[in-house]
Amino acid sequence: MRLKIIGSAAGGGFPQWNCNYRLSRGARSGDINLRPRTQSGLIASANGTDWVVFNASPDIREQIAATPELQPASAGPLRSTPIRAVVLTNADVDHIAGLLSLREREPFAIYASQRILEVLASNSIFNVLDPAIVKRRELLLDEPTKIADASGKPTGLVVEAFAVPGKVALFLEDPSLAAQGFGTETGDTIGLRISSSQTPHAAFYVPGCAAVDANLKRRLSNADCLLFDGTLFTDDEMITAGVGSKTGARMGHVHISGPSGSIDALSNLGVKRRIYVHINNTNPILDEASAERAAVGEAGWEVAHDGMEVRL
Ligand code: MLT
Ligand code: MN
Repeated sequence: MRLKIIGSAAGGGFPQWNCNYRLSRGARSGDINLRPRTQSGLIASANGTDWVVFNASPDIREQIAATPELQPASAGPLRSTPIRAVVLTNADVDHIAGLLSLREREPFAIYASQRILEVLASNSIFNVLDPAIVKRRELLLDEPTKIADASGKPTGLVVEAFAVPGKVALFLEDPSLAAQGFGTETGDTIGLRISSSQTPHAAFYVPGCAAVDANLKRRLSNADCLLFDGTLFTDDEMITAGVGSKTGARMGHVHISGPSGSIDALSNLGVKRRIYVHINNTNPILDEASAERAAVGEAGWEVAHDGMEVRL
């Protein structure tokens, strides 16, 4: 099984269009320690020819242009794609807006939890993907789903979706339900176990996660590979950077460092390869020369960049 991180930044990307914080500014000026990154996305394939996209970011067009695996075969039909399916882990803009760029009457399948499918169904702009051509299929939680193309032909990939602590999409928050998680329900944010029949190994993809609870720890125990929410290094990072007023907890993202952070929570679980993805443009680990980047490396974590590959 091959996996490739096509977008390693969180919503907004890196640099973010309107951000003048030192990291975005440095990336814009070409600092070699501050590699630009597109918004959150992963691809996987069991056979090297049929590909599944995990999360369709607003940068999908640029990501396809940078990823030969996702381009039409040069000897293929006039209109074609190796993208057989798109799997969604939440309904945030950075994970669904790219669906709009995948119009043009090309068949593929969309897989998501019932809650996420409801968001697509209730926003009629997504009908640019004619449901008669682009099939929408539910991922039931806690059971394996064989990912197939629009015609039902299996890709060889199997995904098990599971609910993780998280939050309803930002644009669907109900302020009157602030005390109840702004209307968040089970299935708004999911994690995925990605496997194939070709290998006994599996990767876990959890780009958004508000807390590492006992259930998640049990599931991840001894995993071959984990791609995990690396949005923020510290919970109050956007506030101290002066670019926002929200904590990670408020945004549904557990931070990396310190006693309540993900490094500590996910240590001693026997996870062989740990990679931070969905990295916000305020996170100091983006700076390859930073102490924070060195600290995550010493703790056994890698920091994703666009194009990073994992083979299992
Ligand atoms: C998030 O991960 O918190 C979202 O991508 C925020 C957003 O939609 O801008
Ligand atoms: Mn996001």
